[in-house]
Amino acid sequence: MLAGKKILLAVCGSIAAYKTAFFVRLLVKEGAEVKVIMTESAKNFITPLTLATLSKKPVHSEYFDSASGEWHNHVELGMWADLMLIAPLSANTLGKMANGICDNLLLATYLSAKCPVLVAPAMDLDMYQHPTTQENLARLQSFGNEVVEARDGELASGLTGQGRMAEPEELMEVIKKKFADSVALKGKNVLITSGPTFEAIDPVRFIGNHSSGKMGSAIAAAFQAAGAQTIMISGPAAHLPAQGEVIKVSSANEMLAETEKHHSNADIVVFSAAVSDYRPDKPAKEKIKKTESSFQINLVKNPDIASELGKKKKNQFHIGFALETNNEEVNAKEKLQKKNFDLIVLNSLKDAGAGFQQDTNKVTFFDKNNNAHKFELKSKIDVARDIVDYVIKKLK
Ligand code: C5P
Repeated sequence: MLAGKKILLAVCGSIAAYKTAFFVRLLVKEGAEVKVIMTESAKNFITPLTLATLSKKPVHSEYFDSASGEWHNHVELGMWADLMLIAPLSANTLGKMANGICDNLLLATYLSAKCPVLVAPAMDLDMYQHPTTQENLARLQSFGNEVVEARDGELASGLTGQGRMAEPEELMEVIKKKFADSVALKGKNVLITSGPTFEAIDPVRFIGNHSSGKMGSAIAAAFQAAGAQTIMISGPAAHLPAQGEVIKVSSANEMLAETEKHHSNADIVVFSAAVSDYRPDKPAKEKIKKTESSFQINLVKNPDIASELGKKKKNQFHIGFALETNNEEVNAKEKLQKKNFDLIVLNSLKDAGAGFQQDTNKVTFFDKNNNAHKFELKSKIDVARDIVDYVIKKLK
């Protein structure tokens, strides 16, 4: 399964470093090529000799070998790897990664790595729970890194709680899935609408909404990680995906026109934009002056992009969103039918942590066969992964 895969294992100073000996053995047994980087402090927990022997390659920890003068090029190491795994990840290295600090070979390699990066934190219960740690982990996720959460259990300090590094066998499963998923949607084109739309009142004012584009950007990144090509049609959003094509629009009509252009070439379409339902009838050509004591804007209905394209659907798989405040399930199921979606992702504004601007979301999937999947509150990045996992299973 991992034959020929190049894995760069970066080890930080945490007692969990002892587990990396087993982990390297498992990787090598599966046919992976493994190079190991260690921080100075990691060497207090496991010797470089152990990891060099098991990986059958010298361990890197300084920029150069003072005895031979050999230069360990961090850019080459980063380019060499198909996957960089930082395990165990200490609070110290996590903090530096989240803030772009680069004072050792591990951090320089992280900054130059072109491959996916996975991190498996390990620390004591209170350190793991500290808001700084949680914020830093969220920051890494926002860079596109994947976090294998610390596990619950007995900790080296004698405390019990979340902080244990995932076991080597679990890390193996995560890595295998990651490699399998990285090609699961190769050759597929994904079209995504994202962000709000702005409907002009005059050249200065508009009607808009609070959509940040976070969910749409996470969806683009998750499809890219599964090997798909993405095109995003985005309204004026604060968040755009780091990679993939982005076409910027402003109004619902512009969003419809661009989405229609790319629809026939798409295999999967995700309608995650918060499109304004109405627009001012006749936007003023000049800035409206403050003269009258009251002022009316006549609104007309915008086209429903998802419904319009639902009518033109051939083999495309359409995914829609329903953001509801009441009668959630009934409304979502009705939209699934009306807009000809294959899957609808319901989120309720009643749930704490769900909705606009948040980093998290709590969703339920409903599909055409009346199946429902309810998920816990999780990061928008993880919700995006759940959507992609669903599509991978469906298209199989
Ligand atoms: O009807 P409602 O606006 O709640 O529907 C939400 C779903 O429909 C979302 O997937 C949204 O992106 C899509 N939609 C659309 N065009 C509109 C309104 C909503 O594509 N004008």
